[in-house]
Amino acid sequence: MQVYKTIESLQNALSGLRKPSSCIGFVPTMGALHQGHLSLLGISSGNNDMVVASIYVNPAQFNDPNDLKNYPRDTEKDLRMLESTGCSIVFLPDDDEMYPEPDTRVFEFGEMGQIMEGKQRPGHFNGVAQIVTKLFDIVQPHRAYFGQKDFQQLAIIRKLVSDLDYPIEIVPCPIVREADGLAMSSRNELLTPEHRNAAPLIYKTLKDAKTMSGSADPNQISDFVLSSISSSPYLKPEYFTLVATDSLKPIISLPAMAPVTACIAVKAGGVRLIDNIDFIS
Ligand code: PAJ
Repeated sequence: MQVYKTIESLQNALSGLRKPSSCIGFVPTMGALHQGHLSLLGISSGNNDMVVASIYVNPAQFNDPNDLKNYPRDTEKDLRMLESTGCSIVFLPDDDEMYPEPDTRVFEFGEMGQIMEGKQRPGHFNGVAQIVTKLFDIVQPHRAYFGQKDFQQLAIIRKLVSDLDYPIEIVPCPIVREADGLAMSSRNELLTPEHRNAAPLIYKTLKDAKTMSGSADPNQISDFVLSSISSSPYLKPEYFTLVATDSLKPIISLPAMAPVTACIAVKAGGVRLIDNIDFIS
């Protein structure tokens, strides 16, 4: 496994390795890797000749300076984990390499970018789009792998790739969970023991809500979810939203004509957790 810290050194290496018949898979990450990230790398190495991973904590997508400051970082451990997955190349740039000048580009995603995470974290998806387009331009992969854990981010990236005509296949990867149901996340390691014990209630509540999909209306389901989460003194729901899985349009009545995903964000002390469930397939 080779590690490159500059765009130039990465591109030199890739141009030597690129062949007309070979496929490059790309897995962008912000490090603090866990089994969720590794599953993306596993899927990518099964489908491509070469896998490139990037590790970069992108300041542009953090709307909260404390969240950026506290974001877990452990590059040595990350590199050891990547080595074990069949990843061939790691891109590990620093801020000066990625943003020698501030990125002033503005991306617009319509209503899809204004709800849920877009509403709670102003500027977040613009920062994601800035870094992902830069990384796509640098790596020029054939396929790129994104987790369904960040369901809205995946939809935004698909739109970005379609709007900008990137010749890149976006491959969605299933959510990897802890044994107790909590969706794996780099931020989980910041939870206190009390908040960590309470956090599995998030997925349990989503699963319970799913059993109501045939018999209740969206407001009743939302009331159920918000009160279930609030029953724990360690959890505060931020939003619960039912959206059309493809368009992300909010669902105002059930039954729905198309698949529906239920999305949630919860504050567990100082840590924000997001999760989602395939509500109606
Ligand atoms: P990060 O949070 O490090 O996640 C990197 C990738 O891993 C994302 O595609 C995310 O959806 C996926 N992932 C995280 N937890 C997962 C889980 N439990 N199961 C499956 N996949 C999971 O998402 C980002 O970084 C950044 O926004 C990035 C795209 C790298 C741009 O900076």
